[in-house]
Amino acid sequence: MKNKSLISITDFTPEEYYKILDLAEEFEKNPKQNLLNDYVIASLFFEPSTRTRLSFDSAINRLGGRIVGFSEATNSSVAKGESFADTIKTVTQYSDLIIMRHPLEGSARYASEVADVPVINAGDGANQHPTQCLLDLYSIRKTQGTLENLNIFLVGDLKHGRTVHSLLMALSNFNPVFNFISPETLKMPDEYKDFLNHKGIKFYEHTEFTDIISKADIMYVTRVQKERFSDPMEYERVKNVYVLTNDMLDGTKENLKILHPLPRVNEIDTSVDENPRAYYFPQALNGVYTRMAILSLILGIKS
Ligand code: CP
Repeated sequence: MKNKSLISITDFTPEEYYKILDLAEEFEKNPKQNLLNDYVIASLFFEPSTRTRLSFDSAINRLGGRIVGFSEATNSSVAKGESFADTIKTVTQYSDLIIMRHPLEGSARYASEVADVPVINAGDGANQHPTQCLLDLYSIRKTQGTLENLNIFLVGDLKHGRTVHSLLMALSNFNPVFNFISPETLKMPDEYKDFLNHKGIKFYEHTEFTDIISKADIMYVTRVQKERFSDPMEYERVKNVYVLTNDMLDGTKENLKILHPLPRVNEIDTSVDENPRAYYFPQALNGVYTRMAILSLILGIKS
């Protein structure tokens, strides 16, 4: 993984996923390690973020590294008309690795082509969010004891949700059965269903949130992504289509864990937070350990 960019979850192999998860486990046991002394990491966020940006910051700080960057494009010379390529080429001079979030699909891949240092995609439009995917895999393995043969429910905005796109691709290596629950207009895009068909992975699509969830090992709930809608009226029509409440979890499996990449809007009632099946806040913490592992492997400090 040394010096490799991480743009799509398919850039790494299942063996490499396991290497990251195993190292993340070590960091969880012993998070204070000064491995990134003398390293400078650029953190370029052209789109808002709480968890991804701050958990990367936390991971870098815990490892003794330093961070340069910006949390909104208006604070950079992009606001003066500088091209994206020139920005990336310049930041390459100042850093050993670039972490980047951008609203345009494909922007992270383009950045990796013009940068002389590895690039980590922290989310590009509705396309991919590979580091979220790795922390999701970590959370799934930690709570289920395995990644293999699980019944995975993906719920909400499956059209625009980059986290579900990355997770679907990664889990397809571990013989899952998928159930998709979404409104008709926010269904999983055909390209991802074609991907599953090609790999012989079973999936079922639903528009109603019914007691079908009693089969789930993992229920991965997502927000309806307001910022990706061109028609605000369409967002209003679907924004509260599903709200998970405690009573809906009666009869679900003991081992069920509810994951959510966060931020949450209304799709999980806050009363669910106290339910032992709720795992979305520990999941966010897992992002720190997973990102410590990703940084150490890409920078070649661990192998
Ligand atoms: N999960 C996630 O990407 O959250 P942020 O948008 O807050 O980074």
